[in-house]
Amino acid sequence: MIFTYLKRLFSSSPQTLSSLDAYEHWAANYPPHAHNALMQAEEAAMHKLMPTLKDQVVLDLACGTGRYGLIAQGQGAKQVIAFDNSPPMLKANALPEKALATTEAIPLPDASVDVVLCGLALGHLPQLESSMREIGRVLKSGGWALISDFHPFIFLNGQRRTFTAPDGKVYAVEHYAHLYSDYHQAADGLRVDAVIEPRLGQDKTVRFADDGAREGTPVIIAYRFQKLP
Ligand SMILES: C[S@@+](CC[C@H](N)C(=O)[O-])C[C@H]1O[C@@H](n2cnc3c(N)ncnc32)[C@H](O)[C@@H]1O
Repeated sequence: MIFTYLKRLFSSSPQTLSSLDAYEHWAANYPPHAHNALMQAEEAAMHKLMPTLKDQVVLDLACGTGRYGLIAQGQGAKQVIAFDNSPPMLKANALPEKALATTEAIPLPDASVDVVLCGLALGHLPQLESSMREIGRVLKSGGWALISDFHPFIFLNGQRRTFTAPDGKVYAVEHYAHLYSDYHQAADGLRVDAVIEPRLGQDKTVRFADDGAREGTPVIIAYRFQKLP
């Protein structure tokens, strides 16, 4: 315990990059599948919440290298549209229908999408309101939005979102801890239908190297919202 505390006290904190700068460094090493234990826990939660994607119009929002769009493609979606605001992430994305766009101004008509999948992205934004409003706007009535984020508990307890760049340097990425109530309040015309919070140690896979975090700490929060009529 004391060792963990001292290690934390003296460890040099990595430089924090904006999301745009971070993904410029990270894109080359960011495969379009769950490539660490946290992402595996997140993806399992998203799968539990996932409605049928077959024959649906699916928006992979903040798609990165296309993890959720590829899942939608594999499940027989009618159309998969992918947007991200990072040019290098899009370049590494193999989905055919992709474009540069921000979650805060989605370039799609109202009520044009059946399912929005937005993995691990909204935590990069200080405010949720405009993105949640846009998600609600583009969804058809009765449509679904699955949104995942790092659990606010781990950030409020001092964890940071880090990655190793191709040059071997470790960086942190800009991240804001959003509470359940923040998502709930920002949900415009959407109702929270289900929430899953996988915990540290729950399935014996999610571990931090040196965290001091307790067994049972939730690490991910995944929401399913439904567009109200
Ligand atoms: C952790 S990655 C997740 C990528 C992908 N959704 C996945 O789950 O594999 C976060 C992604 O969000 C994107 N992003 C961050 N802020 C964004 C914004 N305001 N608009 C669009 N994309 C954004 C980043 O460029 C990055 O590709």
